[in-house]
Amino acid sequence: MKNKVSIIGAGMTGSTSAHWLAEKEIADIVLIDVVEGMPAGKALDLQEALPIVGKDVSIVGSNDYQATANSDIVVITAGLPRKPGMSRDDLLSANAEIVRKATQETIKYSPNAIFVILTNPLDVMAYLAMKVAGVEPHRVVGQAGVLDSARMRAFVSMELGVSVENIHCYVLGGHGDNMVPLTRTSNVAGVPLNEILPADRLAAIVERTRKGGGEIVGLLKTGSAYYAPAAAISQMVEAILKNKHLIVPAAAYLTGQYGLKDIFFGVPVQLGNQGVEKIVEYKLTGEEQAALEKSARGVVENIAKLKL
Ligand SMILES: NC(=O)c1ccc[n+]([C@@H]2O[C@H](COP(=O)([O-])OP(=O)(O)OC[C@H]3O[C@@H](n4cnc5c(N)ncnc54)[C@H](O)[C@@H]3O)[C@@H](O)[C@H]2O)c1
Repeated sequence: MKNKVSIIGAGMTGSTSAHWLAEKEIADIVLIDVVEGMPAGKALDLQEALPIVGKDVSIVGSNDYQATANSDIVVITAGLPRKPGMSRDDLLSANAEIVRKATQETIKYSPNAIFVILTNPLDVMAYLAMKVAGVEPHRVVGQAGVLDSARMRAFVSMELGVSVENIHCYVLGGHGDNMVPLTRTSNVAGVPLNEILPADRLAAIVERTRKGGGEIVGLLKTGSAYYAPAAAISQMVEAILKNKHLIVPAAAYLTGQYGLKDIFFGVPVQLGNQGVEKIVEYKLTGEEQAALEKSARGVVENIAKLKL
């Protein structure tokens, strides 16, 4: 029997996630959106591309959540994206209603699904999804760290002219401008970044990583990034479906790790077919820990605004 992945929100990130996932040929895919006809149209277009690339999966689109029944994974991308000048936090109240509805409808039809959340503000929406679905925390994970770390990897590769495959970066913390790109743990073929790059170049890369989403919002003028966020989703979905035990930075529910609890927050997690199998705890310097705590304060404030 094939795996089934339902993607709620068939906009830019949702449909691009379907595209990357179809290329991996690891699951049948369902796209759901509120816009009439649109998810069916995008699904059909993608389905018609598959003979060309030689992939055999089914992709259907619908406005009816019944189509999501018995999904192994539910990906939630439904919601408003940022406009220039907006922070991710500005999206909170509108997107909370959308994510609440998407979670209620999907858990009804797929009581055993693992949830991968993308909608912003990411850490808060993952917390909301866990509460609304009423599932154990390991079954909910938020995508942010794979993307933020990929941005940092891309910038390091551009700076050094080294293959992205040799570059490992770890961006922790909340998915906002206070995220914490680690410069000691991140490395090029095992050599820490802070030993390879001059301090000013490294500081510039850290800053560009923190503002990486905003850089793209500013260039696009309408909407936010979608190729890289969707590629991140597809890597996480693959890790879960294939039970890879892959360690990636992602938003997970913390119960005291890194001195934080009752919060979804970006930390290194091990992903397998149970969702979040493990949270990896790095030994941080005082400065790194303080930066994480600063980032966490913003997430805690926003979770409080949900009044759950
Ligand atoms: N966590 C991350 O790293 C990350 C990265 C990129 C985007 N995002 C976030 O993902 C979300 C989606 O971004 P996008 O670029 O795909 O936006 P988009 O506008 O292209 O797509 C969003 C889709 O959600 C649909 N939608 C709205 N309400 C819905 C509902 N109640 N049920 C089902 N579908 C509904 C819309 O019709 C639209 O098609 C935004 O909140 C954005 O900020 C997060």
